[in-house]
Amino acid sequence: VRRVLVIGIGAGDPEQLTVQAVRLLPEVDVFFFLDKGDAKQDLVDARQAMLDRYLDPGGYRVVTVPDVDRDRTPADYPGTVAAWRTGRADLYAGLIAGLGDDEVGAILAWGDPTLYDNTVPVLAEVADRGEVPFDFQVVPGISSVSALVARHRTPLNRIGGPVQITTGRRLAEDGFPAGVDDLVVMLDSRCAFTRFIGEAVDIYWGAYLGTPDEIVVAGPVGEVAEHIQRVRADARARKGWIMDTYLLRRHDQRT
Ligand SMILES: C[S@@+](CC[C@H](N)C(=O)[O-])C[C@H]1O[C@@H](n2cnc3c(N)ncnc32)[C@H](O)[C@@H]1O
Repeated sequence: VRRVLVIGIGAGDPEQLTVQAVRLLPEVDVFFFLDKGDAKQDLVDARQAMLDRYLDPGGYRVVTVPDVDRDRTPADYPGTVAAWRTGRADLYAGLIAGLGDDEVGAILAWGDPTLYDNTVPVLAEVADRGEVPFDFQVVPGISSVSALVARHRTPLNRIGGPVQITTGRRLAEDGFPAGVDDLVVMLDSRCAFTRFIGEAVDIYWGAYLGTPDEIVVAGPVGEVAEHIQRVRADARARKGWIMDTYLLRRHDQRT
């Protein structure tokens, strides 16, 4: 039966592939790459560089297909996400159908495949359809969250305390969730942290973590927010894209 591996490749540092991922790579016959346009070509190149580093050339095939278009500012957000997900399921169904009977396909998922990534639920949808029989396996990776806090040499949580991971959109709408003083924010294109200027909140910010372009800044939000915004805008203009994430830590109110 066909097999598909969803392999977490870490957040950019080729040394953050796990031993398990490196061991499984040679089993793969076909790597499926999604082309997300010129601006994201660096992310395709980063994946190819990992294959070049860990595999002999000629022992595998790469099939690249254009990704499904997605409206980033839709009027109907849930409807648009659902349509996009069905489009991705169709895309993967086609790719898996192109595998030989006992071949292994692989999707190289950025960071960890289970964190803000649709690959696993989309593959489950393809499997549920039952049109193309296949098995799939998820190989964990080092997420950008782990890379961020390691780089800042700080634990993710405070002793015995909860942590929440959320998006820039949710932070902008809701602020800190009740009972949570340590909040990791991903997918934030609008610097939602600026709403905490003037409050007792520290930020540990990182962009392009694990890559040669890595930038990190930490400090009280009120002192570093403007600097982060400036550095972020410059880097984004220079490279054409940015991936950044941050931990917000509200000062302990009991002290
Ligand atoms: C679609 S999510 C995928 C997350 C990924 N599965 C992970 O485990 O990190 C993309 C978001 O992850 C964060 N991210 C991924 N790689 C990053 C990196 N190298 N540096 C900083 N943030 C990163 C950013 O917040 C970005 O908007």
